[in-house]
Amino acid sequence: MEKPSNVFVFETAEQLAIAAAERFVDYEYAFHGEPDRFSVALAGGNTPRRVYELLATERFKHRVEWAQVDLFFGDERCVPPDHPESNYAMVYETLISRVPIPAKNVHRIIGEGNPDESAKLYENQLKTFFAGRTWPCFDFVLLGMGADGHTASLFPGDAALNEKTKWVMATRPEGSKRARITLTVPVFNRAARVLFLVKGAEKAERLAQVLRPQSGAEPKPVQMIQPVDGSLEWLVDTAAASLL
Ligand code: 6PG
Repeated sequence: MEKPSNVFVFETAEQLAIAAAERFVDYEYAFHGEPDRFSVALAGGNTPRRVYELLATERFKHRVEWAQVDLFFGDERCVPPDHPESNYAMVYETLISRVPIPAKNVHRIIGEGNPDESAKLYENQLKTFFAGRTWPCFDFVLLGMGADGHTASLFPGDAALNEKTKWVMATRPEGSKRARITLTVPVFNRAARVLFLVKGAEKAERLAQVLRPQSGAEPKPVQMIQPVDGSLEWLVDTAAASLL
């Protein structure tokens, strides 16, 4: 099968991370001098860590007007903000603590509270930020893919996948002792630009499967991310792309 035109393959994970950081900077640049703010929903997990580190380096950080950026999170694990599994902790360490972004522009999901209540609180926060809109409309969304086809904290078989009205929900990955909190599918699908980052041979089989829609097969969560009016791109390394 011919590789879809929105899939970009990089020799190394470092090249992939650089390409993602370049996109962040380019998209944010379009907002310079505009009254509008650049709203981003960040991915957790391991793959984007390097992207965040790069954004905080001399090469990138001066190209971003950080006061104009609002950082949100696509999902969070239900742990305190200084826990090793916290997505906020990872982004704080790699990016937030290293760039001049005002604290009020960082909108973390509360992981340490009751999951359903924290989901509601985050939804209210988003409703304040995206006042007057039926759905939030992020300018840029970064996502990853798990080997099972999950993205953010939307896991295969979870009821949250069919959510049609809530913006944020608590979910619980099968077999996990921890709940998570995630933005819902319609929220991701209202974004202006969605970028998936996938690396590693352990993702190769799933990547090939999700990029080749099969009739009758239950779609994996990543396949439900189809921006209504925005762009969707995949940045992958050669290991993940080996079966494409
Ligand atoms: C998280 C996520 C999750 C992640 C995938 C891929 O909080 O873990 O947002 O959906 O993106 O599990 O993670 P890796 O890129 O680390 O493989």
